[in-house]
Amino acid sequence: MVYSRDGEAKIQALNGVSFRVRSGEAVALIGPVGSGKSTLLRVLAGLVKPTSGRVTVEGRKGPVVLAIQEPQRGFFAATVREEVAFGPENLDLDPAEVAARVTWALTAVGLKEERWTVSPFQLSGGEQRRVALAASLAMKPRFLLLDEPTIGLDGPGQAALVETLRKIKAETGLGLLVASHDPDFLFSLTRRVLVLNDGKLTADTTWGGLTHQGPALEALSLELPFLLSLLCRLQAAGAPVEAAQETIEEAWAELSRFYLGRKQEGGDR
Ligand SMILES: Nc1ncnc2c1ncn2[C@@H]1O[C@H](COP(=O)(O)OP(=O)(O)OP(=O)(O)O)[C@@H](O)[C@H]1O
Ligand SMILES: [Mg+2]
Repeated sequence: MVYSRDGEAKIQALNGVSFRVRSGEAVALIGPVGSGKSTLLRVLAGLVKPTSGRVTVEGRKGPVVLAIQEPQRGFFAATVREEVAFGPENLDLDPAEVAARVTWALTAVGLKEERWTVSPFQLSGGEQRRVALAASLAMKPRFLLLDEPTIGLDGPGQAALVETLRKIKAETGLGLLVASHDPDFLFSLTRRVLVLNDGKLTADTTWGGLTHQGPALEALSLELPFLLSLLCRLQAAGAPVEAAQETIEEAWAELSRFYLGRKQEGGDR
């Protein structure tokens, strides 16, 4: 993928990136600033055409949808309901199906029903992000691509977003590809991790696998999720823990096991 700029050298934003994602899989996309994450998502969503290479989508029907970063910029409809209906209406569905999808999507993102009939511009930033997510979900995508979805959300807002995405994943088998600079947010949603650097895929691994790549991550100024870095430090200090945990639940369980073991030891003395 090459970006051309007037009067400047061309920028090769992606170079030889190749990977497969299974349907229903949740994948984190990490990498330093300017490494090509947003470009990759835009190529996958079909918003920009790659200069070479291809994107193949197999299996289940349904579009690949990119939830945009600053949703409020794209709002145009008079009400929230109409805003969310726009995508499905353009899929040539019958009106009853459109209405059902709108209700489902707005309920799934947890937007209060009294807010469905106001203008999207009258909502708070957090509510606007929910509307934008609902608009993407109403397309019933097979893959949802999220670019820095936590920007502008406070702690409870982020927790609510994690809850919503987990629920929808379980309900619909939605696949996720999420680019973010927040490893803790990503760890709570995904299992597999793609690392981009300078337009190249430098690792295709899991969170557990990443715990073995400390120096490589440090070289890119990337951090492990807090729980994994804590487990790594404990393990390095000789504690009887296994740092290579694949999910946030497994990491918590490992930490509890270690903590309870120590308490028991203390009590036996
Ligand atoms: N529209 C564009 N025109 C020209 N160059 C671009 C354009 N968009 C991105 N680039 C360049 O492509 C490279 C990759 O940018 P991209 O936005 O994909 O990175 P990123 O990993 O998403 O970064 P960030 O973490 O800051 O969001 C950068 O060198 C960037 O300057
Ligand atoms: Mg980006």
